[in-house]
Amino acid sequence: MKTWLNLITAEMEQAFTTAGYDAGYAKVTLSNRPDLCEYQCNGAMAAAKAYRKAPIMIAGDVVAHLQENSCFENAEAVAPGFINLKIRPAFLAVFLNEMEKSDNLGVEKESNPKTIVIDYGGPNVAKPLHVGHLRSAIIGESVKRIVRYKGNEVLGDIHLGDWGYQMGLIITELQRRRPDLPYFDENYTGEYPQEPPFTIGELEEIYPMASAYAKEHEDYREKALHATYLLQNGHPGFRAIWQHIMKVSVTDLKKNYEKLHVNFELWKGEADVQKYIPDMVRSLKEEGYARYDEGALVVDVAEEEDNKAVPPCMILKSDGAALYDTTDLATLLEREKLYRPDQVIYVVDKRQELHFVQVFRCARKTGIVRPEVELKFLGFGTMNGKDGKPFKTREGGVMRLENLIREIDEEMWKKIMGNRTVTAEEARKTAEIVGLAAIKYGDLSNQASKDYIFDVDRFTSFEGNTGPYILYTIVRIKSILNKYLESGGSLETVALHSAQSACEKALMLETARFSEMIETVYEEIAPHKICAYIYDVANAFNKFYHETKILSEEDTEKKAGYIALLKLTKEVLEVCIELLGFDAPERM
Ligand code: ARG
Repeated sequence: MKTWLNLITAEMEQAFTTAGYDAGYAKVTLSNRPDLCEYQCNGAMAAAKAYRKAPIMIAGDVVAHLQENSCFENAEAVAPGFINLKIRPAFLAVFLNEMEKSDNLGVEKESNPKTIVIDYGGPNVAKPLHVGHLRSAIIGESVKRIVRYKGNEVLGDIHLGDWGYQMGLIITELQRRRPDLPYFDENYTGEYPQEPPFTIGELEEIYPMASAYAKEHEDYREKALHATYLLQNGHPGFRAIWQHIMKVSVTDLKKNYEKLHVNFELWKGEADVQKYIPDMVRSLKEEGYARYDEGALVVDVAEEEDNKAVPPCMILKSDGAALYDTTDLATLLEREKLYRPDQVIYVVDKRQELHFVQVFRCARKTGIVRPEVELKFLGFGTMNGKDGKPFKTREGGVMRLENLIREIDEEMWKKIMGNRTVTAEEARKTAEIVGLAAIKYGDLSNQASKDYIFDVDRFTSFEGNTGPYILYTIVRIKSILNKYLESGGSLETVALHSAQSACEKALMLETARFSEMIETVYEEIAPHKICAYIYDVANAFNKFYHETKILSEEDTEKKAGYIALLKLTKEVLEVCIELLGFDAPERM
């Protein structure tokens, strides 16, 4: 099914052609003077030069072919050469009824579906999740749902940070506390215990303690570094501890991400790809890509056009240890081997951009990825507090994700209880649903690459451009539809009618934009444009709601038309929030 804009553009193209002008000038856009018209075409201005004619004459010629047109109720040429357009209500109703009946509300699936890996989340095992990981999870999940909605095969990979120094720290601290454990007995040859020697609570306490201690005590730090080295080189006892850490942490991570409605197809991590590194390094050397630089093995990736220096990709440190670059290269190698993706999208803090420039260039240059694979870095900005600095707790520490969510839920709960329409118990559940929307919408309504201010008061408000406002609108529609059903109406048989009022038409025009909005969001990977769109739809709906007697309308046919519009509006809003990664409650 054509998008609404393409459909009306096609009408305009026809008029240009019949009037003797090139159809290429017939571009139609949303009006920037909604007081004068709904859509406009500025093509006559562009055509003036080519045809050596005054724009207003061209506009006049075109408009002459748009009288009695089934799509436009009014087409007018205005100085200096604009064409102002008003849509015929019946034409709009036909389009919306078709949209309602079609699959995916008229959104076409990708004709050449791609296989896409999305690398997002990226938590570090055994370290608590903090708000810095929140953005990656929220944006990545939405991007994944968007590209999947268009019919692509998508794999979300959490890419755990599970192979670093934090592991050595935990091992060292565990050894200090419990030296008697078999993992530390070099002569031990039996099976290691199945049960982990710590709970998640203990693990969460051990890491920050050890990390702080190591900063103050050089010998402890050395020990932790050495433990990391031994782990990475296959020390059996340390490997067994690592397994325990992984199991305990991953269980906890799964719980946390579930709460965020974020789910990954792949729970792979840095450790999984270590096995590819020796061969990869060998061929980088053999094929002449890698060189030694002060003992370190590097691959040059600078290009002539660079206006900022791009340092070489670091493959091995002088002590032979692999690095962040190495792991990401090996991960690409594995992805090629296992999934042969057409595209890999990384949703990572934009401060890591240089790292990805290096990795992408190196992977291309050395043939780790096929030339046609598209590697995309989607860098996001920082989540700041009201003071404009990176978000912190009141005490100035790093805010843990769970605490942040709890704070929002608490705030939502108070507001929902204030409305007093639901029981305290239902309010708890509703607060969680609405709280998640508050957080996600607060984040996603900003362009991802920009920093934004996390403002609990604003995000949890039922008014303005917020998640709760959108949900409130959906709940309001649901409630009307339910009442209609209760009074014996059916949602199956209703059809949209020609708009009866300006506010109804405005809502219909917003709804019609859905599929073209999705196309833009998909092309630009821009979830914030979904937010901007649903805010417009919600505003148009609420205006319509306040100005229209819906359920009390006596003309049953008219009422059915309203109900059909509500049903479609609800579907549009629900698909949109699904793509953003949250749901609406039944009541609030
Ligand atoms: N674990 C990393 C961090 O916390 C993020 C990982 C991003 N993904 C990647 N493929 N490097 O900074």
